[in-house]
Amino acid sequence: MGATGDFTPAELAAIRRDFPALDRIGRGGKPIVYLDSSATSQKPNCVLASELDFYRTSNGAVHRNTHLLGDEATEAFESSRRTVAEFVGGKPDEIVWTKNATEALNLVASAMGNASVGLGGSESREFAVGPGDKIVVTRSEHHSNLVPWQQLAKRTGATFDWLDLVPDGRIDLQTLDRIDGQTKVVAFTHASNVTGAVTPVQPILQAARNVGALTILDTCQSSAHMPVNVNDLGVDFAVFSSHKMLGPTGAGALWGRYDLLEKLPPVLTGGSVVSNVTMEETKFLPPPQKFEAGSQAIAQIVGWASALDYLAELGMDRVAAHEHAVTSKLLEGLNAMDDIRVLGPTDMTDRTGAVAFEVPGVHPHDVGQVLDSFDIAVRVGHHCAIPLHHFFGVRSSSRASVALTTSDEEIEVFLDGLSKVQNYFGG
Ligand SMILES: Cc1ncc(COP(=O)(O)O)c(C=O)c1O
Repeated sequence: MGATGDFTPAELAAIRRDFPALDRIGRGGKPIVYLDSSATSQKPNCVLASELDFYRTSNGAVHRNTHLLGDEATEAFESSRRTVAEFVGGKPDEIVWTKNATEALNLVASAMGNASVGLGGSESREFAVGPGDKIVVTRSEHHSNLVPWQQLAKRTGATFDWLDLVPDGRIDLQTLDRIDGQTKVVAFTHASNVTGAVTPVQPILQAARNVGALTILDTCQSSAHMPVNVNDLGVDFAVFSSHKMLGPTGAGALWGRYDLLEKLPPVLTGGSVVSNVTMEETKFLPPPQKFEAGSQAIAQIVGWASALDYLAELGMDRVAAHEHAVTSKLLEGLNAMDDIRVLGPTDMTDRTGAVAFEVPGVHPHDVGQVLDSFDIAVRVGHHCAIPLHHFFGVRSSSRASVALTTSDEEIEVFLDGLSKVQNYFGG
């Protein structure tokens, strides 16, 4: 093992063998160099096996049966909750299943909307927003952590504001005074899916705490790439996405402080969330059940827990160190190329491995298509962050993003492919 905790070549090779999709041959006849983990991660064999095993051996409805399969399904479902809770540093009853991070963010925003019209009664009043209140995000948000808050402001008459950015796309802490006495909620990303910049959480939290505002952290681009512990961070809510964390699609989670979840009104209602119903009234179960209406994505959740066991076994410090090393190589290569503009920090300080860039004069779709012809997979478009692209004066970009499986050789293949793109388009 290297001094930084980086993987040895043999360890990296063994990790890569766990990911069958990395053997896929692309259109150009070579194994695909997958540099699109920020969009969705590839899945190790243990995740595929545990999802299949669940259906093969323990498939049943949870929390409503007395038969063996129902009991086993319930145990697998609840033990997955314990695994997710432990991985993120929370308690099991603070983990609410959702279908993805977007739904988790919408859950909090919609619940605050419900509180604003009196649902949830007097104990939910602290979540109510209206004229005179302010909702604050940052300009670097993914649309999933921007639009739900903007819409909540429109629905309730609250003011919508944002922390601005310095030229390389990091949060401008000079704009922290936008979190003021009117502010009820501050929602922000832990790491940008475009610039890779890691948000300085503590100054934002401090500003929010000073005015009694709630805080919500979007960990989609951090939780598979560095250790994330919600209690150490000190936020009120955080959202997680299985498919970004080596787990299946269709699963995600909201973590919230239990005392807050207790008072937050439910959003989706119906079966599985109630302790009693009359024709006039409904009594809801305690959290997390009161937020989990209908049947859940049990097999996917079981697969997600297996993904987190896999990451925990490797150690998130070592995953972070490995990704730091390959991202450094990627950035060095891009910085050394003529006519490539990195959208975001060009050094490795407080940065993850999502690296968006512009090839001036070449449309990102053309960049992506030519790279694909060399079997290199990158993301192109606005990456669900149109305001951030406008900040950089572009409509879209290309993005290479690394994962724990990324090798030095893959970075070299990518850099070589990108210079061929430049040559192809006469750069
Ligand atoms: C920063 C960020 N937030 C939210 C999301 C949405 O995640 P999900 O697909 O789990 O809804 C993404 C997905 O790209 C993201 O990168």
